[in-house]
Amino acid sequence: MADKLSTLFREEEVNKRIAELGAEITKEYAGKELLLICILKGAAPFACELAKRIDLPVQLEFMRCSSYGNETESSGVVKISLDLEQPIRDKHVLVVEDIIDTGRTMNYLLEILKQRGPATIKLCALLDKPDRRVVDVDIDYTGFVIPDEFVVGYGLDYAQKYRNLPYIGVVEPEE
Ligand code: IMP
Ligand code: MG
Repeated sequence: MADKLSTLFREEEVNKRIAELGAEITKEYAGKELLLICILKGAAPFACELAKRIDLPVQLEFMRCSSYGNETESSGVVKISLDLEQPIRDKHVLVVEDIIDTGRTMNYLLEILKQRGPATIKLCALLDKPDRRVVDVDIDYTGFVIPDEFVVGYGLDYAQKYRNLPYIGVVEPEE
């Protein structure tokens, strides 16, 4: 049976917010080159839209980490299943993630990336679900802060579905 979805942020709202983030990042990194690290798969639509809104020399790299857990919660045991194609030493790195939930995945990943000696490293997340936080994560650029609801669309999935929705929606619990 099809899941019931309700819209949380319309496509226009999401794109407008990403354009604002892009403008802010452009200003703060003026005169520098930026290396965006897109965390697959969820952050791909966000990272691509964001990259288009940053008016600086930008490189785009991809990383994939699987965090063992069930469908809706990560365990904190993170495995890098796709790594970067280049060293990040002395680069200005901006990690782009879809959502920070418990914070476990990003807390672990940022530690690993910091050990590789970037000049600076910051985090940009499309969504922040602070009510669910288990470990502290500093988010430098946040798209939207959301309540504790399971969201899909704009890259985010529910059992690998809905990543292609152009808006952000909430999956309604089944009756
Ligand atoms: P964390 O380690 O708990 O912060 O988990 C972050 C990861 O869990 C994200 O990259 C998503 O893949 C997934 N996730 C957490 N909340 C949601 C949600 O509401 N919808 C879809 N995926 C989610
Ligand atoms: Mg993810």
